[in-house]
Amino acid sequence: MTFEEPDFNGKVHATYPKEKIIQLESWLNSFDLTVGFSEVFKKYPGYNYPNALHLDGYDFDDHVKINFVINAGSSTMAWWRIKPGYQYRNLTTVVGTGYLWAPKEECDLVAEENLARPALVNAGMLHSVENIDTERLCYSFMVKNKKTQTRLLWDDAVGILKDYLE
Ligand SMILES: [Fe+2]
Repeated sequence: MTFEEPDFNGKVHATYPKEKIIQLESWLNSFDLTVGFSEVFKKYPGYNYPNALHLDGYDFDDHVKINFVINAGSSTMAWWRIKPGYQYRNLTTVVGTGYLWAPKEECDLVAEENLARPALVNAGMLHSVENIDTERLCYSFMVKNKKTQTRLLWDDAVGILKDYLE
């Protein structure tokens, strides 16, 4: 896959046109899957994300995304669990999607992975990007079941895409 950097309009988050991911879309179609939403995130050293630990949407549903990180450096994607007794906050992104977030001090780390290669990630639990030491772009694709238009969930994704996962 090759990607073309979108116009971020001075922001760090943009949508990505579906006509630029024909190859990914036809590969997913072969499993009766489709790209539900395409976006790009720019992150760089020193950029401060007060609401970095977040969940895409308002539901803890274990839905997946396929992430292609360009120039990952030593950055990692980390997954978190909120500590008992704490509450999530909600916000809307610059591209109009809603999400929940919580301060790091109120969360426990669950898992952490360097995404140097295309990766299936769980965006339906709290996650963040850590250790950013390069300007990195993440092309991120939410995946849906083509027939039902429901979000593809982690356990189903692992079954369907097993030949492509480590
Ligand atoms: Fe996310």
